[in-house]
Amino acid sequence: MYIKLFLLAFLFLLTACDSEKPQNNLDGKKLLEQKCASCHDLHMPPITSPDEKAPPIMAVSFHVYDFVQTGDESQRKFKAIAFVEDYVKEPSLEKSFCDKASLQRYGLMPSQKEHVNAAELHAIASYMFEHYNQKNLSEAMQTKAKYDALPAGEKVAIRYKCLSCHRVQKDLVGPSFRRIADKFATSQATLIQTIQNGSKGKWSGFKANMPAFKDINDTELEELSEWILKL
Ligand code: HEC
Ligand code: HEC
Repeated sequence: MYIKLFLLAFLFLLTACDSEKPQNNLDGKKLLEQKCASCHDLHMPPITSPDEKAPPIMAVSFHVYDFVQTGDESQRKFKAIAFVEDYVKEPSLEKSFCDKASLQRYGLMPSQKEHVNAAELHAIASYMFEHYNQKNLSEAMQTKAKYDALPAGEKVAIRYKCLSCHRVQKDLVGPSFRRIADKFATSQATLIQTIQNGSKGKWSGFKANMPAFKDINDTELEELSEWILKL
């Protein structure tokens, strides 16, 4: 009897919680990509271009977050979300935080109210201020700095996902790049060919096949093979 009551109460609680969060299955990141990326660049840090149609969404998020008026700092994020929800539906010169020069350059944002509903917009605006903040920017810059500092050939290996099957020191799905470097030590040309053609059955102990990589260009092949041979 008690157990039954407890179960009922528990179920009731579950449904009560559910009805309080009707929007939590919407993916703000995906929606931002679908609804806003045609004009706003979404990268962090942004990738700007001279003919961009709108300021990057990182700039928009930082800007709105800083400019929104509030006497209570704990309310800043909610106010920023409310600003975006309103502005996207009813943009105007008076409301915009954009400086005059930028407004002239881009022109006023056309209302998006036909393209995004209230729940979607809420998910987008919430995501903007969760994701585009100083902490995530610093992390992204550190990751980027680390990536930039890598040897050119290693970047090629990352770009083409070689590292999902190969490690430098250890065998994984394929033999380690160290062992590969030994095998091809005297012939960079053969190494390049084998990357382009893929490989199967040449190494004992590896069940998988290596796919052919036909669309790596000559510079990339040069950099990649040099990097492997130096390991
Ligand atoms: C057709 C192009 C276009 C699309 C699509 C678009 N925007 Fe914009 N947006 C602009 C332009 C241009 C500006 C800069 C001028 C202005 O502030 O109105 C802007 C400015 C903004 C601003 C105001 C920034 C400020 O400082 O006042 C916000 C907020 C914003 N966009 C959010 C969004 C969101 C969220 C979406 C997706 C739901 C979106 N935009 C889709 C063109 C677009
Ligand atoms: C899906 C997994 C996979 C990926 C991705 C992959 N490889 Fe391999 N690779 C293998 C396997 C498995 C072998 C061993 C095949 C064999 O036994 O012939 C191998 C072998 C090789 C060999 C030796 C071939 C030979 O003739 O001895 C080279 C060189 C090589 N991989 C380089 C690369 C490079 C560079 C990349 C990225 C452009 C890459 N691999 C991506 C799985 C992979």
